[in-house]
Amino acid sequence: MHSIAIDGPAGAGKSTIAKRVAKELGFIYVDTGAMYRAMALYFLRHGISGEDEEGVSEACDAIAVSLEYENGEQQVLLNGENVNALIRTEEVSMMTSDTSKYRVVREKLLSLQRELAKKKDVIMDGRDIGTCVLPEADLKVYLTASSSERARRRYKELQEKGTVCDFEKIEQDIIARDEQDMNREVSPLRQAEDAVLVDASDMAIEEVTEKIVTLYQDRQL
Ligand code: DC
Repeated sequence: MHSIAIDGPAGAGKSTIAKRVAKELGFIYVDTGAMYRAMALYFLRHGISGEDEEGVSEACDAIAVSLEYENGEQQVLLNGENVNALIRTEEVSMMTSDTSKYRVVREKLLSLQRELAKKKDVIMDGRDIGTCVLPEADLKVYLTASSSERARRRYKELQEKGTVCDFEKIEQDIIARDEQDMNREVSPLRQAEDAVLVDASDMAIEEVTEKIVTLYQDRQL
C-alpha cells in the first residue's frame, strides 16, 4: 500500500489539497481531525470539560468512532450517528484541540488510522501523521501558511456558509489552537525530519496540489 502524510497547523488548506491529490492519484482521503472532532463532540454533549482528564478518560470507553465513504466523501460516525455536519463549529474546534492532547484519546484513534492505511492507498492529514501515525509514508508534507492568511481563508469559508463571524476572533482562535497543538506532550504538531515543507501563503490551491502530486510521482520512479 502507498501513503502520503500531510501535517500542518489549522487552516493551512490540508483537507482541500489532500482531497484533490487523492482524486488525482486514486487514493482514499482520510481526515483524522474529523475523528478527534467527533470525540470532542461527545465530550461537549456530555458536559465533560476539556481540562478534566479523568472525565475524558472515563468517557472514552463509551465512544466508538468509525468512518464511512459516501460518493467518495468521508463521513465520521460517532456511536453509529453521522456527525459530519456537527463538527465544524469553533466550539468543537477548540474542544478538539483541548482534548486531543490526552494520550487516551490519541491511542483510541491511532490503531483505526493505521488500519485504514494498511488496507488502502491513503493520503492522510492531521498533526502527527508523519511523525507518529505513518512513519513509513512514501511522502510526508508539512503544509503551512501565515496565520493571517489562514484566518482569512477560514473567515471566507464561514461567511460563504452564512455564519456570522469576527475576523480577529478567528485569527486568535487559530493561534491559540496552534500553540496548544504544537506544545502538548503527546504527539505535538511538528515537521517530521523527512517531511517536505510547503508554505502555501502565496500559492494557489492548484499549484500546491500539483506540487504534491509531482513530489509523490518523482518518488515512485
Ligand atoms: O485538522 P482539524 O482542524 O480538523 O483538527 C482539529 C484538532 O484536532 C486540532 O486542533 C488538533 C487535533 N488533531 C490532532 O491532534 N491530531 C491529528 N492527527 C488531527 C487533529
